[in-house]
Amino acid sequence: MSTTIGSFIAGGVAACGAVTVTHSFETIKIRLQLQGELQTKKDSPRLYKGVGHGVKVVFQNEGLKGLLRGLSCAYIYQMTLNGCRLGFYEPLRLSVNSLVLHRSPMHTQDADVKNLQSLPVNIFSGAASGVLGAAAGSPFFLVKTRLQSYSPFLPVGTQHNYRNAADGMKQIYKAEGVKGLYRGVVPAMVRTGFGSSVQLPTYFFAKRRLVRHLGMEEGPALHLMSSACSGFVVCVVMHPPDTVMSRMYNQTGNLYGSALDCLIRTVKTEGPLAVYKGFFAHLARILPHTILTLSLAEQTNRVMRLIEGRILPDKLAEKA
Ligand SMILES: *[C@@H]1O[C@H](CO)[C@@H](O)[C@H](O)[C@H]1NC(C)=O
Repeated sequence: MSTTIGSFIAGGVAACGAVTVTHSFETIKIRLQLQGELQTKKDSPRLYKGVGHGVKVVFQNEGLKGLLRGLSCAYIYQMTLNGCRLGFYEPLRLSVNSLVLHRSPMHTQDADVKNLQSLPVNIFSGAASGVLGAAAGSPFFLVKTRLQSYSPFLPVGTQHNYRNAADGMKQIYKAEGVKGLYRGVVPAMVRTGFGSSVQLPTYFFAKRRLVRHLGMEEGPALHLMSSACSGFVVCVVMHPPDTVMSRMYNQTGNLYGSALDCLIRTVKTEGPLAVYKGFFAHLARILPHTILTLSLAEQTNRVMRLIEGRILPDKLAEKA
């Protein structure tokens, strides 16, 4: 029990730390994604010309406060996501394992269900708990997006003048009810589902390739390179639904009927590359985040194995 709470706090603090460092890029990403929405290229002024320009302009005109708008919402979202991942992962893994195992009558003991470590099942459970977390955290992400797109200097998107996170939630609830708070929940779930399901497979794939073709050896350099590859792929698959999500979060009326409608109309008016608006800003946010989480996981796993290696033989010896 205490270890679950312990890892919830440890994981949450680590995630919030990473979020603090990369939040500025997230702000620029959202403004780039909303810029020129449903306008052809020649009609739309480019207020923000890219990641570097965006960070500079926002910092000069709105200060650090401008870059960090919505940070508290980002924290709440991270804690929600992290909590759901921890809370749902193991129960999901166990129930899928028992489904898989009960098909073959050879393995029906409970210990088997617990001990089976199947990569596809683990990936599925990770992705599914991420999707549940994204659904639970969507209202915070919504308010965060609206706080981040608010700018007294170079506004893009609907300007919702929320005083803070709580005020934003209250205003949305008053005007539109629970439905308003869950605006954009579908692309939010798709986005996180895409990201979580490719993260680990691409990590292991990159690692094997780097060992085989570049002769790299197990160690921090290999972990860094493999997690960078994984972060890049995560960003590539996650960005299109992320753009749709930002646009669904921005709208207050019914500009788009559904996420699919948003995707189709975006591509039709702005061209197929429009779904990749803000990609480099997203990459600047995701790369450090992925590298930190995956490389850290390797280190903690190594420490765990070391500890187990020291404790287990003694226990086995006691039995003998
Ligand atoms: C944001 O949403 C509003 C509707 O609430 C819409 O009119 C506008 O085009 C959207 N996008 C931008 C960039 O303002």
